[in-house]
Amino acid sequence: MTKETNKIDNKNFWLSLRKPILVLAPMAGITDSAYCTICRKNGADVVYTEMISADGLHYNSKKTFDMLKILPREKPVVVQLFGKDPEKFARATQIVTKLRFSGIDINFGCPAKKVAGHGGGATLMRDLNLCYKIIKTVCDNTNLPVSIKIRTSIKSESVKNKKLELKSQKQIIKSIDLIKKIQNLRVSTIMIHGRSYEQGFTGEIDYNYIKNIKKYFNGVIIANGNINTPEVAKKTLELTLADGLGIARGVYGKPWIFEQIKDYLNTDKYKEKSWAQIKKIALQHAKLNYKSKGDYGFVEIRKHLLFYTKNQENAKEMRRELVSVKTIKDIEKIFQKY
Ligand SMILES: Cc1cc2nc3c(=O)[nH]c(=O)nc-3n(C[C@H](O)[C@H](O)[C@H](O)COP(=O)(O)O)c2cc1C
Repeated sequence: MTKETNKIDNKNFWLSLRKPILVLAPMAGITDSAYCTICRKNGADVVYTEMISADGLHYNSKKTFDMLKILPREKPVVVQLFGKDPEKFARATQIVTKLRFSGIDINFGCPAKKVAGHGGGATLMRDLNLCYKIIKTVCDNTNLPVSIKIRTSIKSESVKNKKLELKSQKQIIKSIDLIKKIQNLRVSTIMIHGRSYEQGFTGEIDYNYIKNIKKYFNGVIIANGNINTPEVAKKTLELTLADGLGIARGVYGKPWIFEQIKDYLNTDKYKEKSWAQIKKIALQHAKLNYKSKGDYGFVEIRKHLLFYTKNQENAKEMRRELVSVKTIKDIEKIFQKY
């Protein structure tokens, strides 16, 4: 690391940002290098990578390293790690620290089978001592700001008593108990998805729960969940008093939602993009994808192109053609036609 980078990296960038801080929340298969760039260009203050396997980095997996390719202009970029083994987190933390990310996040919220099914993500919360160990390990192995991404709660697993053939009652483990436990650690930011593990991705957001975190945590609090319009963004800030907002599915096909939220918070108004403006951004996005991923970028961009056409005239016909694009020319041709 050069002296210059060291100076930048040592700084807790979260503290230098204007509030409310608008964050692109991590999404596997969505928040890759190209999308992070597009969101930064359209008003996101901070972007998170998709979750990266600590085990993959520990074992030098090429596929995992490929996911870390970033462009410098995207900064601040927070890299999110998932796993369950503190030792692997230690090595992964050292690796990503050298790669000059702006911060490191730990995933305690993912319910996806491939993560939670192996004891990582949200299910880590069933063992708060292990959570503590992982967070401490990451803090001890980096000079970058460390953040965690959590949900409100998770139910414990019921334990079967073989003799009595009874199942014990499930306990609710609240993330507040983790927050109380880590008060002595150097955690700078918490992004909280205001739903329990059992709720998955639907249902009410517990705004009060998010608001309560302030009592136990001095750092930056980012509220997350269901923020898909500037109006909901404003309501979420009012109800949670959070320092910022994490937006995930709300960016599908509209990375400019960050700008719209800023406009709405400042002026009570915001503009919709014209179809011509949307096509320009979509094309820019496709070019960035191609630049970072080559031909495979076209496979990945297709789902985004479908999102971009939402609510447009001829969306059905356009989508039929966009699902098989293989080159930038293909996309340009379709966009010229519609
Ligand atoms: C396709 C998809 C992938 C996701 N991947 C991750 C991930 O890699 N890490 C993570 O912490 N959360 C992940 N999430 C959860 C989101 O970051 C966010 O917490 C959740 O979607 C709620 O926010 P939203 O209502 O704004 O979508 C993912 C969500 C979706 C829909």
